[in-house]
Amino acid sequence: MTATTSNELPPTAPARSRRMTAEEIRHALSHFATGVTVVTSLDEEGEPVGTTASAVSSLSLDPPLVLVCLARTSATLAALRSHRAFAINVLASAQREVSGHFARSGNAASWAEIAHRSSHGGLPLLDGAVATLECELERCVDGGDHEIVVGRLRELEVAVGDLEPLLHFRGAYASLAA
Ligand SMILES: Cc1cc2nc3c(=O)[nH]c(=O)nc-3n(C[C@H](O)[C@H](O)[C@H](O)COP(=O)(O)O)c2cc1C
Repeated sequence: MTATTSNELPPTAPARSRRMTAEEIRHALSHFATGVTVVTSLDEEGEPVGTTASAVSSLSLDPPLVLVCLARTSATLAALRSHRAFAINVLASAQREVSGHFARSGNAASWAEIAHRSSHGGLPLLDGAVATLECELERCVDGGDHEIVVGRLRELEVAVGDLEPLLHFRGAYASLAA
């Protein structure tokens, strides 16, 4: 019998996963209820960019790290990679339209009708968000057709009062009360 170290798994038969379609995977994972965020940054011309993202998670408290998974094709991913900083705006239940707006790629998501301000570090922050997390880009890790963007928290802001968050479940928006 071969000894294994504590963080090593014992050898197993090669995994044989059945073929599954993107549709099946999306459908199964849509049952994992999430919040909705808009990840913002600045492009190479200094113009604000943003994308709606629900694949967001806390990662570490010490050091303070969070992660966001973005499609390799994302214009926002390209911008934050070059700007080396981004903000995660956690949307409120009243911001469904904002979510839909930033689900359009690149310049299609115009900022003219979006209420926003600049952080001290110059990042675009959305007015009306439940919370905003400003991050410095720590690293990008390969995640198949997505990249796992790891950010180090530099600034936090939480809305006062009892703003309800926007939720996403089974492909539709939801709220805590529903
Ligand atoms: C509720 C919701 C959640 C989404 N979550 C993600 C996500 O976590 N990662 C991602 O890459 N795209 C996600 N998208 C899709 C992007 O918002 C969309 O592809 C957008 O057009 C990308 O914009 P960009 O190319 O300007 O970055 C989500 C869309 C919606 C409506």
